[in-house]
Amino acid sequence: MKKHDAVKMLLGDRQTNLPSGKAVEIFSPANIALCKYWGKRNQELNLPVTGSLSVSLNNKGTTTTLKISENQADEIYLNGQLLDAQSAFAVRLTHFLNLFRTQEATHFYLDICTNIPIAAGLASSASGFASLIHALNALFQWQLSSQQLSILARLGSGSASRSIMTGFVEWYRGMRDDGNDSFADRLPAIWPELCVGLLIVNDKEKLVSSREAMQTTLSSSPLYSLWPNKVAQDLLLLKNAIHTKEFDLLGKVAESNAMTMHATMLAAWPPISYAMPETVLAMQKIWKLRRQGLALYFTQDAGPNLKLLFLEENIATIREYFPEIDIVRPFD
Ligand code: PMV
Repeated sequence: MKKHDAVKMLLGDRQTNLPSGKAVEIFSPANIALCKYWGKRNQELNLPVTGSLSVSLNNKGTTTTLKISENQADEIYLNGQLLDAQSAFAVRLTHFLNLFRTQEATHFYLDICTNIPIAAGLASSASGFASLIHALNALFQWQLSSQQLSILARLGSGSASRSIMTGFVEWYRGMRDDGNDSFADRLPAIWPELCVGLLIVNDKEKLVSSREAMQTTLSSSPLYSLWPNKVAQDLLLLKNAIHTKEFDLLGKVAESNAMTMHATMLAAWPPISYAMPETVLAMQKIWKLRRQGLALYFTQDAGPNLKLLFLEENIATIREYFPEIDIVRPFD
């Protein structure tokens, strides 16, 4: 099934809705996976090999302003700058927008403002596609449910399916070939003391996209066959840790899940490593602090930066050891 058909199936009659003449503006949060999505069972529809679980980053994310453009091409601004239509980012967005054009909406004006570094493994594409889908929903008045929005956001970027919601979010693998059962849902839990610290060691764009890295891992890593079982166990443990508010269990499972994902990538051919020397130094610092008794854990995505996990009571200590850290309170 092609993306176009998946959109058609989901929107049905709504596809002929007239767009609003006014601009709409919507914010969506970035999200950090505590149990990662790594590997697609269907590359066209971004259907995952396993489920995953994340926490949304409250006010860190992307605001998208969207309206119909009278021009003969899309106009896409990123943090105030008009993008070259040939740039990789603009091409990706234009392709995605192709799925939603109508006779009355042939081209779009898009102003994307993000307060997180782009493509540095900080989930900027997740919040970007989630806010764009929310904005399209408002512009065309589709009145979709959050599950339906999650399905459409997934077509832009897998992890965007989770940025539709706030708080703890689980994205289900689903069994269907059309992906209609592969959407995200919010877990009914809050954890006000939980903190996520963004430790940026390098904010340059990554060299290998997560799409390419996932495919290389899936097709060549001898460790990949172990990954689905690891995820199944970690999902259960994480949900348990969230339910009982056992922070050490949450931290341990999240860190171990990320390390296993990166080990699986290292064993691929060609090998993939997103770590930079500063990443490894920061990990060793965290392990040392933990041996000294500090309840501090981390996770890492498709980039060199780390996301530290700790509780409110340790904010002052964390700031002392990592003065450059940006602290987010997901449930504040
Ligand atoms: O949604 P994508 O294609 O950018 O992939 C995201 C992959 C990870 O961030 C590494 C893991 C995850 O679950 O977010």
